[in-house]
Amino acid sequence: MDGSNIIDFRNKRILAPMVRVGTLPMRLLALDQGADLVYCEEIIDFKIINAKRFENETLGTLDFTLSDGTVVFRTCNREKSKVIFQLGTADAKRALISAKKVEDCIAAVDVNMGCPKEFSIKGGMGAALLKKPEKVKEILTTLVNNLSIPVTCKIRVLPSLEDTLNLVKLIESTGVVAIAIHARTQSERPRHPNRNDYIKKISESLKIPVIANGGSKEINCYKDIEQFWKDTGASSVMLARAAQWNVSIFNKNGMLSLPEVIREYVKYAIRYDSHYANTKYCVLQMMHEDMDMEEGQKMLGAMSLQEISEIWNLSKYYEETLKTRQKRSHNLALKRKC
Ligand code: FNR
Repeated sequence: MDGSNIIDFRNKRILAPMVRVGTLPMRLLALDQGADLVYCEEIIDFKIINAKRFENETLGTLDFTLSDGTVVFRTCNREKSKVIFQLGTADAKRALISAKKVEDCIAAVDVNMGCPKEFSIKGGMGAALLKKPEKVKEILTTLVNNLSIPVTCKIRVLPSLEDTLNLVKLIESTGVVAIAIHARTQSERPRHPNRNDYIKKISESLKIPVIANGGSKEINCYKDIEQFWKDTGASSVMLARAAQWNVSIFNKNGMLSLPEVIREYVKYAIRYDSHYANTKYCVLQMMHEDMDMEEGQKMLGAMSLQEISEIWNLSKYYEETLKTRQKRSHNLALKRKC
């Protein structure tokens, strides 16, 4: 790794990896709102290996898509030095092939060692790795030794603090540049308290930056982020649910109202041609406490990006964006013919 690829993971406010939520529109909006770094949703190694890399000149993005057109990962230059690509993997070789495929368009690679879902556990991925230190070592060492960009990992804690400390020390010894700690065990749910004292002890025991995660239940405004940071003594903080509900939580000048943040999100979804179902899901997640809003009921029935745009008074933006895109696409086709 040469010096130009080093990212400092200290003193950062970070968007956590979130399946379905952490796609390009949410990541760019998080950066607009003050996040320093953004993790993409977990991407399983097989998927990125099977994806075809494609420079999407019409959108100005780099796409990794499956043969049926499904976008596995879409990124753009603006986030290149800020985006951390999270891998779901149980195998060092597959992890390396996957990371190599995206190495030149991302800032760092992260390995997910915290997902408690059956799909991950059965595949030996996510939290299943917490019980396989040799595998953890093999995967992380392979990535660290063969990539030109930094490697990080995100874990859940083990029930015993001592076992957790042994695990994080082993992880540190592989050469990863930072570790994110969601301080709940594999079996604990979001309603259980986050073990902030574990994060504090880990922070005191490691030399690499520790990123505190799991505090969203108590985070309702920017000031609460500082409190979580203080309580955990960590180098940086990472937010998932608080950002999923209103990503302007990262804004030190105050939060946008729910309709405002949704409109900004939908604009990015239009700009980057997101699938309507993904956009609908994310907007509904943002509205979780406000389904009485007139827009909430309309969103439930929305079947296209155009309909979503209408609901949020963005029809003009939608039409203009489409027109500009068609024009660009037409010009690119002409250029190719010449
Ligand atoms: C998650 N989480 C998660 N974690 C991870 O490592 N990779 C992932 O892809 C996901 N996906 C995901 C989706 C959604 C919708 C949620 C809410 C959460 C877990 C997440 O990153 C975080 O560790 C926990 O939510 C705890 O942090 P907060 O929510 O208290 O800030």
